[in-house]
Amino acid sequence: MFIFKFETREITDLETLEIYEVDQDSANILHSYLEGNLPESENESLQIIKKALEDNFIHLNDLQLWTEDTFRLNTPIVHIIQNCNSPCTICDCWKTRERNIRTAVELYPSFKKMSEYGASSIMVSGGEPTLNPELEQIIDDIHSLGMGVELNTNGTLLSRNKYLYKKNIEALIISIDGFSPEEYKQIRGINKFETVCNNIIEFKKYSPETIVGIRVTLTKYTLNQLDKLIDLCKKLNIDSVGFNPIDVTSSSFSRNMNFERSMLLRNRLFPDLDYLNDFIASLENTESDNYKIIEEASSKSLFSWNVSQFKKCANYYKGILTSEETLNSSEPCNFPNYSLVVDYDQTIKPCFYAPAFSNLKDFPNDTWDLAKIKEHLRNTGICKGCRGKVFCG
Ligand SMILES: C[S@@+](CC[C@H](N)C(=O)[O-])C[C@H]1O[C@@H](n2cnc3c(N)ncnc32)[C@H](O)[C@@H]1O
Ligand code: SF4
Ligand code: SF4
Repeated sequence: MFIFKFETREITDLETLEIYEVDQDSANILHSYLEGNLPESENESLQIIKKALEDNFIHLNDLQLWTEDTFRLNTPIVHIIQNCNSPCTICDCWKTRERNIRTAVELYPSFKKMSEYGASSIMVSGGEPTLNPELEQIIDDIHSLGMGVELNTNGTLLSRNKYLYKKNIEALIISIDGFSPEEYKQIRGINKFETVCNNIIEFKKYSPETIVGIRVTLTKYTLNQLDKLIDLCKKLNIDSVGFNPIDVTSSSFSRNMNFERSMLLRNRLFPDLDYLNDFIASLENTESDNYKIIEEASSKSLFSWNVSQFKKCANYYKGILTSEETLNSSEPCNFPNYSLVVDYDQTIKPCFYAPAFSNLKDFPNDTWDLAKIKEHLRNTGICKGCRGKVFCG
């Protein structure tokens, strides 16, 4: 399923969250067609667009026009544990002292509700989900409701949880935030780069049907290393790479954020302004290495982002470094249209940053009013400058 948002000329693939941009003329034609004002057979330009979309595996009959109330719960993100075994610099889940672990029984009614809302899969995350002793049961429950499982993990414990090889997980998403042991440790705090790489190789051997993706947080350790990333993908036979703009301002990821910590994270992890300017310039030059790497990898669907999304992220980083207002509208991003977040404290939120609208206990009886939720988001002003707009369009 694909959603076309006319205002931004973006088509979002709800399975992979990849975004395709179309030019203004094509956007106008698609808009007329999807509104029912342009019969498919009668327009030559539409046929050309159709062919171009099909080259990107987008079929017109899978395309829906985004409207204010478009809601297709596709892949909710469910944190099944807050505790973690990796002392990352970007996230404080590992500092959680008490056990904060969801049981399969607690989660099942909400999974059922999500499947009734039409979710096709659940992204199981945390904390570190492989530390949840009931992960196997949780995966079985999700499958029994007819949904797929996307497991987001740091990958350190895969080979200790060999039952995962046999679970027919649809997608395994491993966070790798550096492409050498030293760089990995700068973000992840431990020397586990080789372990994670070996675990991926072993997992792929025993579970060849599972799509194995990596997720890369973009920092000064990764943004300027796209060539190394490509080499790593080849070595590990990676199917897809998702990119993650780093959050250095909010209290998400179990953090207590304050001005000092935010500045420290910026100073330690952000590429500097000169680098960002050079990076953006390189993306405007079709002959540059960065341009060619991104263009080739995104055209093969290895990278989830295209050149303009990297540019958007670099500009967002520049805005943070220079305190310039960017992404300044109060409009929510796409995230609440197709997902939700079950947070560590059992609350249910329309995205990582918005106030909760329900909780695990009440959710089975709740109805979801997307228009109301979005109105609330607009009124709070929380969407202004939010990283979600870089992440989700
Ligand atoms: C909280 S982790 C939970 C799953 C698992 N422990 C892992 O690391 O993949 C989920 C995702 O959030 C990302 N993340 C953590 N802190 C972040 C931050 N400050 N900014 C952006 N992404 C962050 C991680 O890199 C990971 O891809
Ligand atoms: S990002 Fe993942 S691995 Fe790192 S502390 Fe957070 S939950 Fe743990
Ligand atoms: S822009 Fe940010 S706060 Fe607004 S809906 Fe998206 S993720 Fe949530």
